[in-house]
Amino acid sequence: MKRLNYISKFARSLTKEEIENLGSISQANNSREGITGVLLSCSGIFFQILEGDDDRIDRLYEKILRDDRHNQILCLKSELNIAERRFPDWSMKVISLDENNDILIQPIKILLQTLAESQAILANYTQAGVLQAIEHGINPLTLKPHHSDKIILFSDVISFSSITEKLQVTEVVELLNQFFTICTRAIASRGGEVTKFIGDCVMAYFDGDRADDALQASLDILSELEILRSQAPANSPLRILYVGIGLSKGIVLEGNIGSQTKKEYTVIGDAVNVASRIEALTRQLNRFLVFSNPVRMGLSDRWKPVRLGDFHAKGREEIVEVYSVDDILTFQKSDFHKLKQEIKQHLELITL
Ligand SMILES: Cc1cc2nc3c(=O)[nH]c(=O)nc-3n(C[C@H](O)[C@H](O)[C@H](O)COP(=O)(O)O)c2cc1C
Repeated sequence: MKRLNYISKFARSLTKEEIENLGSISQANNSREGITGVLLSCSGIFFQILEGDDDRIDRLYEKILRDDRHNQILCLKSELNIAERRFPDWSMKVISLDENNDILIQPIKILLQTLAESQAILANYTQAGVLQAIEHGINPLTLKPHHSDKIILFSDVISFSSITEKLQVTEVVELLNQFFTICTRAIASRGGEVTKFIGDCVMAYFDGDRADDALQASLDILSELEILRSQAPANSPLRILYVGIGLSKGIVLEGNIGSQTKKEYTVIGDAVNVASRIEALTRQLNRFLVFSNPVRMGLSDRWKPVRLGDFHAKGREEIVEVYSVDDILTFQKSDFHKLKQEIKQHLELITL
């Protein structure tokens, strides 16, 4: 048998009747499935304990995760091989702590609120895949390292050192945050995973069979930035926020990598180096987006890749075959030398 507990937040305000109704349906379903437990509600937070047969708990929990009445779900504990139930007589006891003003209950209310706040803070610092594992009751530390086929995306800001030299710290942070937000949204919505931000650089990966998604996410980033630039006020540094994007594909080592106290779930390997190196080639090739031949080979027919040539990527012996797609977004400013001048002039103008 399995016991699982989690906290979550109401997605909207729920009336007493709605919660009671949720309890009645749960009791009826759980009695049938031999599931027992308790559901606490308090200040817009749920805390639930579920216990029963492993598969049945997994199936129910999958349903609960998809339930749009709550969100920000954090699985606090998932125990296997439990010998005894804690709540054998409760098919799902619903307890609202809001109506209980007993002084003994107050610390429990505070504990639940604090846990929910901690979850919101941690979610900001944790990558989506790790958070998703925790949400599903999987301890990410138990995930074993393995080889996998991935498409790696690298993107960084053009002329970032000039930008940091000229702008105030808060302006640099604002600019980076806008860029990172656009990247994270575009990448996640196409099934990719942002693994880290390194200075002004985003590193992300997609499963090896998602070349179309990786390319579309890259174009979405360029398109969003184009909108951001055109809508920014004339004296805004966002007017000169341009980025280069490089994509590569290959077998990488995927897993928890880090020290005893700080880990990242990430990928390492040659494909990562190639993505970073060919991203640097965007400056030389006057294209905002370039990708390697293995990425091209994974693309569907709807794309018309153009071969830019064979290049010697810095730090690598082999030659890399580099491609792009002809799109207004990938080469709208075809002279990067001029673009860098324009960035410099804009910075001088706005920091006079
Ligand atoms: C906080 C929360 C706890 C829930 N607990 C249970 C539960 O213990 N048992 C249950 O059957 N459904 C529970 N549900 C409801 C399920 O998500 C789902 O709506 C319900 O099982 C009906 O699913 P069905 O339409 O597939 O029958 C819960 C939902 C929420 C938001």
